[in-house]
Amino acid sequence: MSLPYGKKLLELFKHPHNVGKIKNPDAKATEGSPACGDMVTLYLKVDDKTHKIEDIKFESYGCASNIATASVITDIVKGKTIDEAKKVTWKKAADELGGLPPVKVHCSVLAVDTLRSAIRNYEESHGLIKNKVPTTRNDIIERLKHVMNPMKGLDIVKTGLLFDVIFEDGKVTVILELEESNQFASNLSNEIIEQLQTIWDVKSVEVKFNL
Ligand code: FES
Repeated sequence: MSLPYGKKLLELFKHPHNVGKIKNPDAKATEGSPACGDMVTLYLKVDDKTHKIEDIKFESYGCASNIATASVITDIVKGKTIDEAKKVTWKKAADELGGLPPVKVHCSVLAVDTLRSAIRNYEESHGLIKNKVPTTRNDIIERLKHVMNPMKGLDIVKTGLLFDVIFEDGKVTVILELEESNQFASNLSNEIIEQLQTIWDVKSVEVKFNL
C-alpha cells in the first residue's frame, strides 16, 4: 500500500532545497530518530551582529517526509533571526507540505529537532545562553541521548553503550562499553565531544572505552 503523500511533498523529496554541507559552519547538529534510526545533519551560517541565518544546509538519511520537511524548514528560516527560527514547528512544516500521514510525523519532528539543536549549539558556542543554570550529570546524560549508536540505530544511552559519566569541575569523562579498536569508536568519540563541548560550563570532554 502506498503512503498518501501530497504533490508538494513528493516534489520536494525529488528536488529538495538547501541540500549539502557548509564549510566552517557557525553551528551544526546531527539528530537521529529513535523511531526509525534515520539521521539528519544541519549546518548554519549566522550573522554575528544581527543573528540572522545567512545560510543553512542539510544532509538527510531519512525518508521522503523527512527530506521534504527539512527542505521546507530550511527555506522558511533562511534570512530569519535565530529567535524567529526557533518558533518554527513541525506542524507548520507539515501544513506547508499539505499534511503528513500520522506514521510519518516523527520524520518531520526529527527535522525540526535538528534545527533546534543547531540553534542551541550556536547559542552555546557564542555565549548567548540567557539562563545559565549549572549543568548536572543528568543534563549530560540527556544530551548524550542525541548521540546515535550506529550499530543499533538508537541512542547510546538506550542501547547501553554508555557505561558511565563523570562530571567534576567542568571536566566530563564519558565511558563507553566498547573496544577502542571498534570501527565506530573514533566517530562516536567525535560526536560525543561535539555534543558536549559547547555547554557553557563544560571545560573539557574526554571519551574512554572500557573493553
Ligand atoms: Fe525515518 Fe522517516 S522513516 S525519517
